[in-house]
Amino acid sequence: MQKARGRFITFEGLDGCGKSTQLEKLAIVLRERGIDVVTTREPGGTAIGERIREVLLSSRTEGLDAHAEMALMFASRAELIAEVIKPALESGMWVVCDRFTDSTEAYQGGGRELGSDTVLRLHELVCGGLWPDLTILMDSDVASSVRRARRRNKDAAQDENRFEKESQAFFTRVHDAFLQIARREPQRVVVIDARPPIEVVHEEIVRVVKERLAFEGAHL
Ligand code: TYD
Repeated sequence: MQKARGRFITFEGLDGCGKSTQLEKLAIVLRERGIDVVTTREPGGTAIGERIREVLLSSRTEGLDAHAEMALMFASRAELIAEVIKPALESGMWVVCDRFTDSTEAYQGGGRELGSDTVLRLHELVCGGLWPDLTILMDSDVASSVRRARRRNKDAAQDENRFEKESQAFFTRVHDAFLQIARREPQRVVVIDARPPIEVVHEEIVRVVKERLAFEGAHL
């Protein structure tokens, strides 16, 4: 008998909104329920993708053209889909990914002002019809997210500061674009307030995933 296709969940939000922590906590809950889960991230998630990530996030990368930036995001994504996401979903595993095309629409489409259409057309070409079954958009205010991200990256071993150097106006456009996506696609994107304590946000995410994907019976 053929195994049912797995589910594809993505986490989105501004830098420093706490999505990586929440993603790991959700994966633990799903695994406790007997679901096979792969966690991954963008840009990155494969050997080639991690090299592309280094170029994209290092503050040594100066003067990168916005279209080149978008194309590199999709190059990393194409590799991740081919190597990780597709094979996992086809074998019945669930994939939980830190960022996906909504980030490109928000950061390059909104932040860099390339527009949503450009990003969505490229998505169609590169990713075909692959969209998440559920996207958790962790909403936080621009000022405190950016403050957190900058503080965290200052202490990190790797230099991943290129985006954190952007202005408040840039992140406000990114934030607006995320909310616009959520309004356009309420059946896929659920907005979660990222500001309450970690455990409170976690419980809300588990509730939403249960409600939307009925995971209690998913491993049968
Ligand atoms: P991430 O590792 O999620 O950083 P953080 O933990 O700070 O949220 O993402 C790295 C950066 O890459 C982040 O600033 C957003 C940016 N990004 C884009 O601009 N476009 C994209 O398509 C993706 C996937 C990420």
